[in-house]
Amino acid sequence: MSIIRRTIQVAWELRVFFTEHAFAPDNTTVNDALADATPRKVFVLLEDSLAQARPDLEHQIQNYFSTRAHQLRLVRPPLFVCGGEPAKNSITLVTDLLGQLHRHHIDRQSYLVAIGGGALLDVAGFTAATAHRGLRLVRLPTTTLSQADSGVGVKNSLNAFGHKNLLGTFAPPFAVINDFNLLGTLPSRDKRSGYAEAVKIACVRDARFFAEMEQAAGPLVAFDDAAMKHLIHRCVELNLEHLATGGDPFEAASARPLDFGHWAGHKLEELSGFRITHGEAVAIGMALDVTYARLAGLLDPGTAHRILQLLQQLGFPLFADELLNSDDDGQPAILSGLEEFREHLGGQLSVTLLTGLARTVQVHEMDPARIMAAVGELHHHAEKS
Ligand SMILES: NC(=O)c1ccc[n+]([C@@H]2O[C@H](COP(=O)([O-])OP(=O)(O)OC[C@H]3O[C@@H](n4cnc5c(N)ncnc54)[C@H](O)[C@@H]3O)[C@@H](O)[C@H]2O)c1
Ligand SMILES: [Zn+2]
Repeated sequence: MSIIRRTIQVAWELRVFFTEHAFAPDNTTVNDALADATPRKVFVLLEDSLAQARPDLEHQIQNYFSTRAHQLRLVRPPLFVCGGEPAKNSITLVTDLLGQLHRHHIDRQSYLVAIGGGALLDVAGFTAATAHRGLRLVRLPTTTLSQADSGVGVKNSLNAFGHKNLLGTFAPPFAVINDFNLLGTLPSRDKRSGYAEAVKIACVRDARFFAEMEQAAGPLVAFDDAAMKHLIHRCVELNLEHLATGGDPFEAASARPLDFGHWAGHKLEELSGFRITHGEAVAIGMALDVTYARLAGLLDPGTAHRILQLLQQLGFPLFADELLNSDDDGQPAILSGLEEFREHLGGQLSVTLLTGLARTVQVHEMDPARIMAAVGELHHHAEKS
């Protein structure tokens, strides 16, 4: 037997630009992020909801690129695409987009600029990663959640065979441009949804940020600009810190601390037929795991109370009826979320629980009776309030 081994290292620079009015004629951010010595093609995807809420945006984008056509050539007017979870629920949008990219001769040196919420960005990222094995993807996230969390990460995914995020790739974007102004037209529910990921990353990584959010709960609920900008900025710093220094950017290991609250969260999204948003589901998932950790003696009651209280102050329900659904065998349906989560990660089950703020432990099994006791507590609490 013989073997040849070489280590291959691929370095990525993640760049997240912060700006407002990215397509105003004199705003150079997009130009700075994309333009270099070679003229390049640009294909823009624009989420329908945003195009409707901002009828002028399409023309602004066209004007922006027309004055820079010698460097960045828009190959067609922005393509309107549907967003939200339905966009992720079938492969049709991906195949349509691949056809469009092919028709316009978009190659590995061209840009796919995607402007939309986390769901559309997931679809665009999947498309960009597979066309020619990887185009230059530029994300302009348009929701709190995607500016703070999903848009600055390295993952993209589609739902398939009834399961959340079953398909996907790891593919870092060429650049991310966070234009705070784009959040202006977002419905309150979707503005709030992203706060759940902020609470999540504060819980697992940054006790001071958690305390700041407690202080800022009032302004955050009122969607105060300064409070939201600070939240997004800190989340981006923490997410990039995790990717750059966590040692496992492409999640080869089973432990995924940033998936705190997500095993139950993903299951709740599915059980609700996506009536519950990702952020809302993660909020309930965290409430469940915080209560579980407290019942297991891992987390002190005071810290558990603070976390549930912050989630409530931010306007999140901590219970959904779907937590009480039964599957065909009469078992609580939520419990099958654990095995599905294990399969999604691969290998051994590994769930992040809190032992304090910014203190985590990985557990490799959870007691079903205690999970249901935690569900019972959340239910009782919801009925009282
Ligand atoms: N890839 C990752 O690492 C990762 C991480 C977290 C979440 N996600 C995924 O992100 C998705 C959730 O993202 P989201 O919270 O951004 O929700 P979303 O993309 O579903 O958008 C929420 C709603 O807001 C609309 N919308 C988007 N931007 C708008 C704007 N500026 N004005 C008006 N309406 C607008 C959308 O059409 C949609 O109806 C989920 O599918 C989740 O699984 C991915
Ligand atoms: Zn999430």
